[in-house]
Amino acid sequence: MRTEQAPTIERVDYQPLAWVVERIDLHFRLEPAATIVTNRMVCVRNPAVVADGPIRLWGEAQERVSLSIDGAAPATGALREHGDLVEIDVAGEARSVTLEVVTRINPQANTTLSGLYLSNGGYFTQCEAEGFRRITCFPDRPDVMARFTVTLDADRDACPVLLSNGNLLEQGELPQGRHYAKWEDPFPKPSYLFALVAARLVALEREVETASGRKVLLQVWVEEGNLDRCEHAMDSLVHSMRWDESTFGLELDLDRFMIVAVADFNMGAMENKGLNIFNTKFVLAKPDTATDTDFENVESVVAHEYFHNWTGNRVTCRDWFQLTLKEGLTVFRDQQFSADMLARAAGPEGAASARAVKRIDDVRVLRAAQFPEDGGPMAHPIRPDSYQEINNFYTATVYEKGAEVIRMLHTLLGPEGFRNGMDLYFSYHDGCAVTCDDFVDAMAEANGRDLDQFMRWYGQAGTPRLRATCAWDAGTGTYTLNLAQHTPPTPGQHDKLPLVIPVALGLIGPDGHDCPLQLDGEAQPGAATRVLALTEEAQSFRFVGLTAEPVPSLLRGFSAPVMLEVDEDDARLAFRMAHDSDPFNRWDAAQRYSERIVLALAAGSAAEVPPAFVAAFRSLLEDARLDPAFRAQALTLPTEGFLLERMSPADPQALRAALVTLTRHLGGTLAEQWLTLFKAMQVLGPYRYHPADAGRRALANLALRYLAAAQDPRGIALARQRFEAATNMTERFGALAALAVNAGAARDTALQNFHARYQNDPLVLDKWFALQAGAWRWSAAAAPTVEQVRALMADPAFSLSNPNKVYALLGTFFRANAGEFHAADGSGHVFWADQVIALDATNPQVAARMARALENWRRYTPALQASIRPQLERVLATEKLSADVAEVVGKALG
Ligand code: TRP
Ligand code: ZN
Repeated sequence: MRTEQAPTIERVDYQPLAWVVERIDLHFRLEPAATIVTNRMVCVRNPAVVADGPIRLWGEAQERVSLSIDGAAPATGALREHGDLVEIDVAGEARSVTLEVVTRINPQANTTLSGLYLSNGGYFTQCEAEGFRRITCFPDRPDVMARFTVTLDADRDACPVLLSNGNLLEQGELPQGRHYAKWEDPFPKPSYLFALVAARLVALEREVETASGRKVLLQVWVEEGNLDRCEHAMDSLVHSMRWDESTFGLELDLDRFMIVAVADFNMGAMENKGLNIFNTKFVLAKPDTATDTDFENVESVVAHEYFHNWTGNRVTCRDWFQLTLKEGLTVFRDQQFSADMLARAAGPEGAASARAVKRIDDVRVLRAAQFPEDGGPMAHPIRPDSYQEINNFYTATVYEKGAEVIRMLHTLLGPEGFRNGMDLYFSYHDGCAVTCDDFVDAMAEANGRDLDQFMRWYGQAGTPRLRATCAWDAGTGTYTLNLAQHTPPTPGQHDKLPLVIPVALGLIGPDGHDCPLQLDGEAQPGAATRVLALTEEAQSFRFVGLTAEPVPSLLRGFSAPVMLEVDEDDARLAFRMAHDSDPFNRWDAAQRYSERIVLALAAGSAAEVPPAFVAAFRSLLEDARLDPAFRAQALTLPTEGFLLERMSPADPQALRAALVTLTRHLGGTLAEQWLTLFKAMQVLGPYRYHPADAGRRALANLALRYLAAAQDPRGIALARQRFEAATNMTERFGALAALAVNAGAARDTALQNFHARYQNDPLVLDKWFALQAGAWRWSAAAAPTVEQVRALMADPAFSLSNPNKVYALLGTFFRANAGEFHAADGSGHVFWADQVIALDATNPQVAARMARALENWRRYTPALQASIRPQLERVLATEKLSADVAEVVGKALG
């Protein structure tokens, strides 16, 4: 068993440091196994702190070569070390001292991908959240903002390109085949935004003008063979710049902005000031290797990191508990940006549907990933109260629920009020490290609103339940809507207070049209959709002037991150599927209806799929007025992750069997319709990344998958044709996914051909791994997926040290294939423990992400719990287990 437990850091313990750093001059002599870092810091007493105290620095994974203070060794006893913390007393009254620390680090041995590491012969850094302390000693906290100058000295052949934050001051030759470059960042920044790159790379460049007419140089740096895959990332960057200028009046503040792609990276991308470092997955895209979804993801991640330049970098977080200050806000901004881009491409006619499709995508992620997190042992408020390892708190709650909280402010204050709040926020806090309260206070002040109750969203964990009941009085034409809220207890938080819940709603008349809304006491009817703010535990709203009983459409556009509980019979769901004027709710009605059918099949309370459901589903399928992208969403069943959350106890096997039955039934009964649809959805002409084309491709791919699930030979023949004739990855991979549904020679051949064609393309092979790891078993004859995953680990293209490979193969199996992962014989659980333990020895951040796949084990059937518990215990008992995994598994068992 692990003996010492990682200490818990509490939010309320925040204290400013007695000493901060004003300027830091870094020199790197880069060598793979022994890089020398010379760090000269001007430390000053923190003007905001009266109490005296030592200089505090953190340093880990380094050897100290020397340390001096104002040119001399520290006096005896003046330097103390406690683990990673170094404290130095400063004698006398000096307001400022210069500290020089020389350390030796080993990038080659750094498998954590945090700090300075090697990837394919190049040097890269990742400092958020606490990676800078793995490079040198520093007060490595976001509330210490310093001016950086950085000199890189490296072998010219191995590393012809030397980059760091800000502006290039000078560069030149050095003896022994080496060269150097010196960079200066004009903006003070926290250490987590420091970055350097020294590698063999080439750049796509573009010069653009900012709104105020400044010329700036944009660069996308990649390995030479990838230069033909950078165009889309560059376009996305330019679009992001324009959007932030026109939406928020925010301009790029540097003369040069760089994006660098690296193949070994723990997360998606990182917003280092002026030098964003990206996982290759979110930069590289060309039609032959990237799907429409990849193009979309590149655009939104480029935007996300670019938007951080203001929301995160210019105004940063005081401490890591405030992470959602930058992440929730920046996710909201990237979601709005993507919605605007889609709406613009769709034109005025299609804009509303295009926005709804984006909203549906985002809500699907929230429900599949954040709702389970909020209902499990790791549940935390968007601003957590405590953590053991901060890397475990880059979560769906902090990011996605955080974005929902910002969206609710946007809904409550309106776009203009929100913009005024943003302007005030920047006018107060530009250049500062602040808290979530500072943000909400600016929103409140700019709008003359009291947002104290709203702040509860930052402090309360758990998904609120919103219960709606209705009463119709035909005599007076009055419709009463009763809303009640309740948030279930979460670990460490038993009692919850009522939240401010914006409820966007409409009332649909029997003719399918929205009724104008008139609340009791209002002089006349108003708009067809309005936002009610529920602030109490229960409230009633009376609508008058109605001539017939309406059908309520609640939480339009998903106006709050809650679970809506409302009794609707099948007929009413079918009615809303056909008539709800809010496209999001139309989709949601289809999801609710599908959920009902799947869960009934899984529970055995229904033996077959009701014809009424098939009829409603068919109407959507055949409604040519609906935009294809929307139809693809509406015809896609709810995710397994969300459905398991709705089952008690969760039974992944029964759920999978139900999903197989339902999918096969929809594929088979509607085979003619799917075939017609597939033909109607062909895209002619060369590939372009455009939402209209992407929607057609998505719907065509979906048709093939339903047909393949039903083993329809015509569908399978079409898939084979499409696989061979495809001129882009979206169609080729869609066809492959359909061919892979049924075990047999056709599947094996297609997978082999695909592998042969893309064997030198790591990002495409990730798709190939993920497809097989996510495989369902459509017949009892097929081999268990776990065996396939085990075998694939031996493929030469697989590597446990590359996070993309781990996420593609193991991540897909553990987190997106519940039916197979939870095989009754427990083989998946044993395999999980083996892999978490193996990963933890080299990369704790990635290991902890995999470990989280079993955190909700107590929701499963007793038999599964009995199989999982010993594996959790085995992981926790591992020697030298990281704090990352220990926190996840400890909380799961706790
Ligand atoms: N700030 C990054 C983002 O939101 C997240 C990130 C990138 C990160 N790399 C990381 C967080 C490593 C923790 C560790 O885009
Ligand atoms: Zn971010």
